[in-house]
Amino acid sequence: MKSIKKITCIGAGYVGGPTMSVIAQKNPNVEVTVVDVNTARIAGWNDENLDNLPVYEPGLDGVVGEARGRNLFFSTDVDKAIDEADMIFISVNTPTKTYGKGKGQAADLKYIELCARQIAAVAKSDKIVVEKSTLPVRTAEALKSILDNTGNGVNFHILSNPEFLAEGTAVTDLHNPDRVLIGGENAEAIEALVQVYEAWVPRERILTTNLWSSELSKLVANAFLAQRVSSINAISELCEVTGANVDEVSRAIGHDSRIGAKFLKASVGFGGSCFQKDILNLVYIARSYNLTAVADYWEQVIILNDHQKVRFAENIIKTLYNTVNGKNIAFLGWAFKKDTNDTRESAAIYVADHLLDEEANVIVYDPKVPAEQIYKDLDYLGTRSPEENRRLVRVVNDPYEALSGAHAAAVLTEWDEFKDYDWAKIKETMKRPSFVFDGRKLLGRTELEELGFIYYAIGE
Ligand code: UDX
Ligand code: ADP
Repeated sequence: MKSIKKITCIGAGYVGGPTMSVIAQKNPNVEVTVVDVNTARIAGWNDENLDNLPVYEPGLDGVVGEARGRNLFFSTDVDKAIDEADMIFISVNTPTKTYGKGKGQAADLKYIELCARQIAAVAKSDKIVVEKSTLPVRTAEALKSILDNTGNGVNFHILSNPEFLAEGTAVTDLHNPDRVLIGGENAEAIEALVQVYEAWVPRERILTTNLWSSELSKLVANAFLAQRVSSINAISELCEVTGANVDEVSRAIGHDSRIGAKFLKASVGFGGSCFQKDILNLVYIARSYNLTAVADYWEQVIILNDHQKVRFAENIIKTLYNTVNGKNIAFLGWAFKKDTNDTRESAAIYVADHLLDEEANVIVYDPKVPAEQIYKDLDYLGTRSPEENRRLVRVVNDPYEALSGAHAAAVLTEWDEFKDYDWAKIKETMKRPSFVFDGRKLLGRTELEELGFIYYAIGE
């Protein structure tokens, strides 16, 4: 197999953008072009000012700055990039279906299928097609069928190469992955992709499997991680009624090397584009094979996560004397975790929705999420009109402004800066009694109580 000279990636989002930037950085002899139909996104990736990249990730500006214009290019010319590439990554979005069969559970594969049809129509030479997006098991089969039956008679080899990076740590995860997973049937195609990763990843960390194992492993890895969060969140509720402290329980069990310390942080609930979507997908697949017990088992992870978000909101209402009507609740954080501007499935959206149902005034401050995104997230729920969302929700650029006059502060994202605020000064400006609801167990109970706050944290 000749080595890869040109790579194209379709989809310049949270996965495609950072992943291709690192592949280009580490393979200066391979030309990498990332294409997208979204012209604003591509313009962002090409912006002279690296602060304006469409994806915020610590360290990404440095990587893009090093490779862009050398062997890393961002473009909207999808056909040209497909035509020229030896290897094409598909990294488009696969949201949960919002219509038809599998609505609310199955992954919507229309974007993937459109890509496959476009590749088939344009390609004039043999290509290796790599699934990067998270996909239901056996999507490769559908891809292959489209490529082989609608193409120009060229050969396509399909590989599955799921991405395991976590947002907020994407660059370090890409630079130093626990493993790279490549599933496929054709040994030469697999080897070609192994070579790309071998530029910086030790060979023993590059695992190869069959296509189906690779596709399924991605869903299972996310399901196991999410399950740990739901497990500890279930225990957090028990801690609150028994006098145990969930952080102490996490520490105690995490020291058992069989359990391990990671992903045991109790929270207001997991968010992000992957966990819920992938579990729903797993549940859908299990149900489609009539594996009811398997489906019910995994579905419980989502049910518990929803319960945790509602429980957090209801505790705010109950504590504020059973009414939040007209009261100011300052939200610290809107992103689904720190160090990202991504808000997909963020717990903050659902907690806000619950409080808005009770006619609370929500004032949001997030260091990286712009106001239009926050309104978009709320409008998308369809719970109330856009005008109503704008009447009840105010987005500010200054945390002190958000907290001034607030009846309560709610910590929804674990941004480090929240710890460094002048909480004594904040206490002076808030309504009394001044409540803090810490959905991330981020702030110090002792310090806040000494300042006179009434402090509530998950699992204590
Ligand atoms: C996840 C997987 O970690 C990654 O391997 C995969 O490629 C994509 O999905 P991501 O969603 O970016 O990554 O972030 P992650 O760090 O896994 O956090 C997911 C959610 O769980 C966040 O809302 C986070 O706040 C929450 N979480 C995580 C907890 O509440 N407690 C924990 O202990 C860990
Ligand atoms: P992820 O988190 O999986 O990277 P994103 O939604 O951030 O998901 O990114 C997916 C990108 O794929 C979007 O920018 C979208 O415009 C792009 N996309 C979807 N379908 C196509 C297509 N057929 N051709 C080119 N780009 C596409």
